[in-house]
Amino acid sequence: MPSRIHHVGVAVADLDESIRIYQSALGAELVHRATNEKEGLEAAFLKVGDGEVELMAPLREDSPVGKFLAKRGPGLHHVAYAVADIDKALAGARASGVELIDNEPRIGMHGTRIAFLHPKSVGGVLTELVEA
Ligand code: CO
Repeated sequence: MPSRIHHVGVAVADLDESIRIYQSALGAELVHRATNEKEGLEAAFLKVGDGEVELMAPLREDSPVGKFLAKRGPGLHHVAYAVADIDKALAGARASGVELIDNEPRIGMHGTRIAFLHPKSVGGVLTELVEA
């Protein structure tokens, strides 16, 4: 079972501009910024109190986030839940009939093991499990 919401992922077109808005409007603190060439995205992690927001901007139009932006525009991309044991959490999701995007955990942008569940199984929201 997840212990808490770990972070919320937001797709944005302009990462620098979005960081600035989150800092000035919400008092968010930029803690980390990373590029993932394979996924074709640049992400910024911002702390807002106990919570965290992951702003994601595409490096290429044909990347997953680029396609998301083209189809749906900027906005909520995924919700991530913290789990103590991702193998157990993934097995539990599979056993409940949820469609998995990642059949096995992989290393995510936070350097910890993650796995995604398909949005069509989880109320239309792309859902990430993060081992934390
Ligand atoms: Co995420």
